[in-house]
Amino acid sequence: MSQTAANPLFSSFDLGGRMLTNRIVMAPMTRGRARNAGLVPTDLHVEYYRQRASAGLILTEATWVSPEGIGFINVPGLFTPEQVAGWRAVTDAVHAAGGTIFAQLAHSGSVSHPDFFSGEQPLAPSAINPRLRSFTAEGFKATVTPRAMSKDDITRTIDAYRAAARNARSAGFDGVEVHAGTFYLLPQFLNSVLNIRDDAYGGSVENRARIVLEIMEALVGDWSPGRVGVKISPTMAMGGFAPTGKTIATYDYLVARLNDLPLSHLQVVQALNDLAGTPVAALQDTIRYFRQRFEGALIANFGFDKASASRAIESGHADLVSFGKAFIGNPDLVKRLREDLPLRESAPETYYQGDARGYTDYPEAARGS
Ligand SMILES: Cc1cc2nc3c(=O)[nH]c(=O)nc-3n(C[C@H](O)[C@H](O)[C@H](O)COP(=O)(O)O)c2cc1C
Repeated sequence: MSQTAANPLFSSFDLGGRMLTNRIVMAPMTRGRARNAGLVPTDLHVEYYRQRASAGLILTEATWVSPEGIGFINVPGLFTPEQVAGWRAVTDAVHAAGGTIFAQLAHSGSVSHPDFFSGEQPLAPSAINPRLRSFTAEGFKATVTPRAMSKDDITRTIDAYRAAARNARSAGFDGVEVHAGTFYLLPQFLNSVLNIRDDAYGGSVENRARIVLEIMEALVGDWSPGRVGVKISPTMAMGGFAPTGKTIATYDYLVARLNDLPLSHLQVVQALNDLAGTPVAALQDTIRYFRQRFEGALIANFGFDKASASRAIESGHADLVSFGKAFIGNPDLVKRLREDLPLRESAPETYYQGDARGYTDYPEAARGS
């Protein structure tokens, strides 16, 4: 057997009953191309995702579950019939090309700006400014002190996730991934600095994890097993986000409870910075840490190349590996990795805004690399 044929990256994988053709996942990436008032995916999205359909699994860009979850310009939603129709064209194209595609569901919480809400404050677990930036129609703006969510706000938000997941199913998605990574609403609840609530959604480890688990339970109860996954990045530190002495206990509890649900996957973002001396030093190898605690399929993310991804799968530390930036410049990333073809660099200034340039105009290797 040749080395390539034996490489486990290119072996199939049963993800919740759907057979993926390889272990290479396209990581969720916000690209800011829904440049219309309805935040509807366009023909450009159809072409972008179709080009990348040879990934074993595509995770879409973070997609808003409701208008109050918006926090970044030109990001599509999954809360209107027009958006469902737009996504249907995307999923049809990916399926026609033999691919599998999950929608990533998101709510930005406090990492938004009053510009998106006619001057009203964004919602968050507590009235604490996360000290980050929101990309608005007038460029990046500093975040503000948000409004602490009431119990009704929380119930409405869980309902919005449920409705968006139903919309994802109507749009032909194979499943959804709940975005509990980076710095959006759900990690805000998990973080003991940004969540100082004294009700059932704050205070203890169990309470801070409650909204995530209630969302996961709502979605799983609504769809067949293996259709709902979740992404976490427990070591993220930016602005008001900093791991604390409670971070590890919170994620240990969350992941232990996730084991009770028939999920498709857990996507884990590896820590690339040195965590020595921080409260989360034990999470330095984040992927191995959660591999030992999560019983389902694990997608490893952050900074992988062919060699490290192959090792992660070979050693059993992950079932799948997701690639972000490499998929921007290389729509045919799977072929390039399989055949050891050179990878193209992508243009960072086109990452979060613009048109077809830097989005759908990267050639496949066969047409020149
Ligand atoms: C342009 C861009 C947009 C991103 N948007 C999202 C997003 O919408 N949701 C998410 O979970 N992660 C997002 N990420 C993070 C990626 O999913 C991934 O975790 C990160 O790029 C690290 O993987 P890589 O080293 O293979 O690029 C984004 C990354 C980039 C570069």
